[in-house]
Amino acid sequence: MIAPDPLRHARITALGEHRPAGVLTNNDLAGRGVDTTDEWIRNRTGIARRHIAAADETVITMAAEASAKALAAAGLDPRDIDLLVLATCTMRNPIPGGAARVASAIGAGGIGAFDLNAACGGFCYALSVAADAVRTGSADRVLVVGSEKLTDWLDWDDRGTCILFGDGAAAAIVEASDEPGIGPVAWGSDGLGADLVSVPVDDWAIRMDGPAVFRWATTQLAPVAHRACKLAGVDVADLDAFVPHQANLRIVDALVRALKLPDRVVVARDIADTGNTSAASVPLALSRLVAAGDVPSGGQALLLAFGAGLTYAGQVIRIP
Ligand code: UT7
Repeated sequence: MIAPDPLRHARITALGEHRPAGVLTNNDLAGRGVDTTDEWIRNRTGIARRHIAAADETVITMAAEASAKALAAAGLDPRDIDLLVLATCTMRNPIPGGAARVASAIGAGGIGAFDLNAACGGFCYALSVAADAVRTGSADRVLVVGSEKLTDWLDWDDRGTCILFGDGAAAAIVEASDEPGIGPVAWGSDGLGADLVSVPVDDWAIRMDGPAVFRWATTQLAPVAHRACKLAGVDVADLDAFVPHQANLRIVDALVRALKLPDRVVVARDIADTGNTSAASVPLALSRLVAAGDVPSGGQALLLAFGAGLTYAGQVIRIP
């Protein structure tokens, strides 16, 4: 048996995103009979609108669109990819998973492919798995995709949930690199909080104890962010960007305060136009910052994802 190259590291080299053309504003929701107002949603969540997938847009088609864009951005052929990890919790059916179908749809049929369900924490879990696969020599190039069609799982009469979520997908290409580009992951879970966000078996829609999740996110996650920075040997003051899960703008702002991030650190606030897209939220937010030129290529960004499970994961990355 030969050992993997000890100098081999991993980094994200390109991103691609898919935001469905359909857009639902807060006023559209109120107009549909949801007992809410634009003012309440903006003040309590920071959300103004969210993208809504069409009937023929699925977790798989959105993942394929985002993946194809990431490949084009990297100048790669689909056959250059040898592993695809699909982070999602909104497949309509548990079997079969979607990853193999995404791979076939983009012209990479035959590669290693699997789904990973850590709900809103999923992208950072998947990124860690991909980085480890590259570092150990199990794969040379990995597509890590977060794709969610949350609107398939909403009760439009439940104003505590239906106002929050949106649809979309984003993909990252992880490749071998001479320098470290994806830091060790700080991850964890709390199964005792499983009922706080769930789709109960006798129901068909997401149910959530919003205030309890809010308290958990604003009190328990800053130490996870600190741990991710420590594992990467990075001081929070030296970060260029902070890209947390886009669950609620008040949670984002509370984390920024708890971490005492300097003003110069760019903070992702993609939620206003996107809502909460679960496993797609962190890569969508990162992709928007990179596309807008708001963050320096090669700079250091802290990713932090969290949600149902309860699960959480974060790592420092080099910005592609
Ligand atoms: O990604 C998965 C993880 N999920 C999260 O991180 C979500 C975390 N939780 C939250 O973002 C917030 O808890 C919510 C946005 C879900 C709710 O905001 P809140 O400030 O915690 O409100 P609340 O549930 O404590 O409700 C306060 C009031 C209640 O009315 P009363 O009892 O005070 O009269 C609710 O009925 O606001 C009412 N309310 C609404 N009013 C208008 C709840 N939802 C709405 C609404 N429109 N959509």
